[in-house]
Amino acid sequence: MIAPMLEAPTVLQRCEDLARCTEEPGRITRRFATPALARARDLVAGWMREAGLEPRLDAVGNLIGRREESGQTLLLGSHLDTVRDGGRYDGALGVIVALAVAERVAQRELPFALEVAAFADEEGARFDTAFLGSALLAGCVNSRWLERRDRDGVRLADALDAWGGDSSGLDVPPRRDLLGYLEVHIEQGPVLEEADVAVGVVESIAGQIRASVTFTGTAAHAGTTPMGARRDALTAAAEWIGAVERVGRETAGLVATVGEVEVEPGAANVVPGSAAVSLDVRHADDDTRHAAVERLRALATAAGAARGVEVVWAQAHETASVPCDPRLTARLAGCAGTVTGVEVPRLCSGAGHDAVMLAKVTPVGMLFVRCAGGISHHPAEAVAEEDVGVGIEVAASLVEELARERV
Ligand code: GLV
Ligand code: MN
Ligand code: MN
Repeated sequence: MIAPMLEAPTVLQRCEDLARCTEEPGRITRRFATPALARARDLVAGWMREAGLEPRLDAVGNLIGRREESGQTLLLGSHLDTVRDGGRYDGALGVIVALAVAERVAQRELPFALEVAAFADEEGARFDTAFLGSALLAGCVNSRWLERRDRDGVRLADALDAWGGDSSGLDVPPRRDLLGYLEVHIEQGPVLEEADVAVGVVESIAGQIRASVTFTGTAAHAGTTPMGARRDALTAAAEWIGAVERVGRETAGLVATVGEVEVEPGAANVVPGSAAVSLDVRHADDDTRHAAVERLRALATAAGAARGVEVVWAQAHETASVPCDPRLTARLAGCAGTVTGVEVPRLCSGAGHDAVMLAKVTPVGMLFVRCAGGISHHPAEAVAEEDVGVGIEVAASLVEELARERV
């Protein structure tokens, strides 16, 4: 029994319902392998059944709803996890719009199976494991990630098993049955708002690295240790953080961010003994990104050497720049042009997406929906109902077009 047509107001209401599934009251925080994410997943599983999809969980905790048909599988979806204190729509919108599309085509014969994926870990906000959920479908989960620990010292493998996943089941072959992957996502930037258009298509997704850079000096008494005798880990880190911003500004198209600093022992009257600093660097061109990262490594070493501070660089994650499939992108742009009546912008996404992993096994296409002020990874994240309606319309018309062609 299919529920009434799922349209933009209901999509927004569902995003609101998901926002109430959170680890931290008053904030939207839904990290991998937490009860909050399980609650969100349960809600989505119910909505999947309403949309005529049969939900299942895989070893890493992705929720996948399937409509069985003969032939290959068209996969739609996005992620359900969030950053800490994130917004309502990053990831969640794509999952719920995918359900709306599944409903649109529920009564129509399809020459392919349809799946909607709600990925369990795209942000990597708990274990620094960006794209872990979709990596399972691409058959490329890095087994070393299982040993990673969160800030409370919990091992990823233990967290996953306690959450109902199966850490021994992550070494699986890539999905070979996929016909394509389509992801709808908020833009998370200002381009569509500036162009005054509801949606745009993604041509490529920027490559990125994440690293943890640890500066280790000597903790000492703040009142008695002369300035010249200090090995202050935090001043070395601070000098380098300034350099990260400078290199980001000097290199066209580069974004370089320090988002986390952990200082030990962390007291007003103690010279810091260690500072662990996160780094995130992205660029559409991989060579430019590599060159910038090499420069940053040298600058970290120099900032440490000037103070007798040791610097250890640990790379947590790297993905190359990924092009979306040109044919799928052209068709998506065609559908978007028909729905909006204008030629929609083509963008390079600075944000990472599950499509990065899916591109290893199937053609991927992505549609961006305009978001207010380009704000994302923030509670103020907002989308307009009409734009969401356009997003549903465009995605559904692409699926219908693919279905017509394959009949
Ligand atoms: C995910 O949103 C990322 O780009 O970090
Ligand atoms: Mn995000
Ligand atoms: Mn996202």
